Amino acid sequence: MVRSVFRKGNGPGLLKVGARSFNVGMTHEWWRDAVIYQVYVRSFADGDGDGIGDLPGARSRLPYLADLGVDAVWLTPFYTSPMADGGYDVADYRDVDPLFGTLDDAKGFIVDAHALGLRVIVDIVPNHSSDQHEWFRAGLRDRYIFRPGKGSDGELPPNDWESLFGGPAWTRVQDGNWYLHLFAREQPDLNWENPDVHAEFLDILRFWLDLGVDGFRIDVAHGMVKAPGMPDVGHSGQLDLLGSAELPYFDQDGVHEIYREWRKVLNEYPGDRMAVAEAWPPSPERTALYVRPDELHQAFNFHFLKADWAAEPFRAVIDETLAAGAPATWVLSNHDVHRHVTRYGGGDLGRRRARAAALLMLALPGSAYVYQGEELGLPEVLDLPDEVLQDPRWERSGHTVRGRDGCRVPVPWTSTGPSLGFSKGTGWLPQPEDWAKLSAAEQQDAPESMLSLYRNVLRARRGLEFGPFEWLDFGEDVLAFRRGEFVCIVNFGSTVMRLTEPGRVVVASSHYGLEGGQIQLPPDTALWWE
Ligand code: NOJ
Repeated sequence: MVRSVFRKGNGPGLLKVGARSFNVGMTHEWWRDAVIYQVYVRSFADGDGDGIGDLPGARSRLPYLADLGVDAVWLTPFYTSPMADGGYDVADYRDVDPLFGTLDDAKGFIVDAHALGLRVIVDIVPNHSSDQHEWFRAGLRDRYIFRPGKGSDGELPPNDWESLFGGPAWTRVQDGNWYLHLFAREQPDLNWENPDVHAEFLDILRFWLDLGVDGFRIDVAHGMVKAPGMPDVGHSGQLDLLGSAELPYFDQDGVHEIYREWRKVLNEYPGDRMAVAEAWPPSPERTALYVRPDELHQAFNFHFLKADWAAEPFRAVIDETLAAGAPATWVLSNHDVHRHVTRYGGGDLGRRRARAAALLMLALPGSAYVYQGEELGLPEVLDLPDEVLQDPRWERSGHTVRGRDGCRVPVPWTSTGPSLGFSKGTGWLPQPEDWAKLSAAEQQDAPESMLSLYRNVLRARRGLEFGPFEWLDFGEDVLAFRRGEFVCIVNFGSTVMRLTEPGRVVVASSHYGLEGGQIQLPPDTALWWE
């Protein structure tokens, strides 16, 4: 069955793009309140049995995503890559790595997704390429950032910048010069002062737009322009400053010129093509600059993801986000951070809070990003054996930082099989034994499962009319707001809260009591009513 993509404010026209028909001329852009599901391709579903997720596998699960009720799918990089950083080291931006399938598989994925009413967003990685990219291999140094070193013999790096994966951000090559890599040494930073780099990325954008993608998630979107003269930061521990302080290699004003160029290209295409920035600017005001009308459409709001489980931090980040006046995004988990079931306390408590957090996130104005497996309540896997770890952080930190593999463990689809339905073979990371009961198959028809909750909430969200956002006061441990007739209330406190039975309860994250016209809302529980 083909679902309608647009729910509100549709204009009358129908546009044919490939196999799909989308409404155009509407006043409401689809991404403004879309729920976008992040597929970390190598851990989602494996179609060819080699233990690594791929595009055919992901394509076979599209009906599951349509049934879940999301609006769009974001695919993490599936391009040709030596996989030094799970595909964020791209060697060919216009082709698919054999590990993940073929270009035809990518085209087929887009066509099938559209036929199911799902939009498709692909990752683009413009801050750095792979050291196996043809430019780097051909020694085209003016497209990267090469500098002589310091010290009597150039034996010291050109400045004190640190790689986000640990160690210096510079690697020395045979002739004694150094090149910059803000991430792994296999990921040389591109030189955005060179017009060839600009032209190349405009062409890459067009390549994927021509294939029908609906948008881009821009990796390290705040990184491409470096401060003039590349000054020292002055101290170590620079990773800890990410998103809170000014750094000479991030969030430089010049980066906005790039997005003005990109926006013109996106605007050339019909059908509301969009781009979302993965950016860590030091303040909400600086973040808002990325989403000015002639730049990008969205920027991830990582402050929401960083909020501790308590009413006050969530209230603060919601206030700050909405006050910025830019299109809001909400994210609880992704492939770079510990999964939120674990961040919120783990086990039953963590899952209970994650259920409430889902209701909170999906009630807020704006769009929400759901990370694969979050709808199954998957926790972070904290005890992966050392020998299976693949995150470059593990090696670059001298085996002190375990890295991000624990949130990248393959999705369990069934309760049996060598990798719980992820692959015909063994998955590239082992799944904990007790994940059988968290599998999609186990949860599919269980009315109280996390999967059923997400499905119900996403369905309910589509049918609701949302008005303007307004806080309600139910005490300091409770977050409550209305959006017109619709109300969301979350009890972050440690005691049961009582409230007069409101209108119609739409959905609750956990059981609640009802007695004599009073609702008893237990701790860590959220409720929607209208
Ligand atoms: C952010 C991506 O989300 C992360 O996975 C990657 O390692 C870095 N950017 C470098 O590309």
